[in-house]
Amino acid sequence: MKTPLKDKWVLITGASSGFGAAAARAFGAEGAKLLLGARRADRLERVAAEARQAGTREAHFHILDVTKTPSVETFVAWARGKMGGQKNLHVLINNAGGAQGQDPVAEGKDADWETMLQTNVLGVLRVTRAALPLMPHDAGASIINIGSVAGHTAYEGGAVYCAAKAGELQITRALRMELNGTGIRIGTVDPGLAETEFSLVRFKGDAGRAEKVYEGINALTAEDIAEILVWVASRPPHVNIDELLVKPVDQAAIHKIYRRKAG
Ligand SMILES: NC(=O)c1ccc[n+]([C@@H]2O[C@H](COP(=O)([O-])OP(=O)(O)OC[C@H]3O[C@@H](n4cnc5c(N)ncnc54)[C@H](OP(=O)(O)O)[C@@H]3O)[C@@H](O)[C@H]2O)c1
Repeated sequence: MKTPLKDKWVLITGASSGFGAAAARAFGAEGAKLLLGARRADRLERVAAEARQAGTREAHFHILDVTKTPSVETFVAWARGKMGGQKNLHVLINNAGGAQGQDPVAEGKDADWETMLQTNVLGVLRVTRAALPLMPHDAGASIINIGSVAGHTAYEGGAVYCAAKAGELQITRALRMELNGTGIRIGTVDPGLAETEFSLVRFKGDAGRAEKVYEGINALTAEDIAEILVWVASRPPHVNIDELLVKPVDQAAIHKIYRRKAG
């Protein structure tokens, strides 16, 4: 039997755009109760309204910076308050993250390296540590981390992002061992090329360079990933989806990309 999501509390980090925002709408359409976090409150407010329109009665948001332990603790305390102090968090989606720059190591910037490791690795650890005490045992609760094909295959200019997502993959695997016996499920969903704000952020607002990444290909959409996240969380409580690699058909491998000519 599927695990129902209606009226279940779902916490999503990085809910202000891309996969996180689409997940808020998709879980909202299932009638789940949402706790949304990211740094941009104006964007979160818009996403919460969209999620309510999609069907949920409850979509709440609060500022969250996963690179800062006090921010994570404040956010999780706020989430606990919204749930009435109950140990009721059914789904945790560790999605906040991204890449900064695409420099070879020889030209890498400390700030880019630090941001990538802080968000994609330490952010997942901080949020998971803080949220785990809110998750019930043996009730089909799930932690879903967002990894990447970059965690499986290295590419030039991607050393730190690939290292960060490989780190996320190993954290997920270690946590599965640590959580064994609690009934809490944990998995990672690892997308390939998906058209979100990811490349715009990576190239620091250079829209032309960001568009080139997706030129001529049918990239994944944020909605494709959101649908998969709902599917993972709604499997029967005894089923754990460990690791899901999802790529557009046009991306056969990290560098093997079919691009259609314009016109
Ligand atoms: N798009 C792709 O091709 C792709 C492929 C594989 C994996 N991924 C991964 O998917 C996840 C979501 O990315 P996306 O594609 O949806 O990109 P996106 O549209 O840029 O979304 C990234 C989200 O992360 C949030 N975020 C970034 N730093 C944060 C911080 N310090 N604290 C809290 N939230 C933070 C952003 O919100 P604020 O800026 O408002 O804080 C935003 O909501 C990331 O982990 C990314 O690495 C993306």
